[in-house]
Amino acid sequence: MSRHPNVPLSRPCESSLSLDRIHAHLKTRAIGVALSLHDEVDSTNRRLADLARAGASHGAVVVAESQTAGRGRLGRSWVSPPGGNLYASILLAAPPASNTLTWVPLLAAVAIVRAVTTLTGLALAVKWPNDVLVPRDGTERKLAGILVEAISRSQAGATALVLGIGLNVNLQSEAFPDDLRASATSLLMETGRPWERERVLVALLEEVERLDDQWRDQGPAGIAAAYESLCATIGKPVRIEMAVGGPVEGQAEGLAPDGALLVRAPTGQVLEIRSGDVVHLR
Ligand code: BTN
Repeated sequence: MSRHPNVPLSRPCESSLSLDRIHAHLKTRAIGVALSLHDEVDSTNRRLADLARAGASHGAVVVAESQTAGRGRLGRSWVSPPGGNLYASILLAAPPASNTLTWVPLLAAVAIVRAVTTLTGLALAVKWPNDVLVPRDGTERKLAGILVEAISRSQAGATALVLGIGLNVNLQSEAFPDDLRASATSLLMETGRPWERERVLVALLEEVERLDDQWRDQGPAGIAAAYESLCATIGKPVRIEMAVGGPVEGQAEGLAPDGALLVRAPTGQVLEIRSGDVVHLR
């Protein structure tokens, strides 16, 4: 494990997140300006969805030290113990062109990679659609997960997006449940030192704002290019485990205009995959 001395640790990693320390560093225009911090919630995504229906605006953020019912993709749970990770949800107003909404999970993956790499120097990769991985010693360990949920704010159907991010920061290997220990990692495990979580959160919120602005002003092309350059899935043989039906195998070739994964099946047919679990076959 390498050491990265560029962000000094000013306090023990076990101390609680501090709203003052977050606001002292945050330079965003909208994202995180309204931020609520909780010791424990069921799910930051669920809590933020309630706030959105009650009128919270674009950029509102909910952060928690732990979650009792953290949600993962495909109906799974997200194990969310206290003691040093980040569980955060960000409210994004839907843009006028709703056909670009499918890019938001990919935008979030790029934001996490940029924030973490800038802060720690770690080289990261993304597994389609939005797992952030640390490639090391021929394996890929999961550092962060993303869950985007659309909510309807009014009877007229105005949509907002809740972007949920779980990022393992200061958890030690022993703190992960047995079944995740081989496949999950944290910044502490990768760099050999703890990280000030407020700094990590601030870097993340700033990257989300930058990419969200770019997406709204210029459309998804820039996000697509950034994502493709980080995506470890494209160019690999893959198996896609689908929620319904058997697995599909083929060669991942690129992204469709909506961010779907293009997979060439052994028959030569190119499939557009929009959900499911990807397994990299080498
Ligand atoms: C996944 O990889 O399955 C997605 C995990 C997303 C977890 C985060 S933690 C903060 C936010 N609140 C939730 O309930 N889930 C997301």
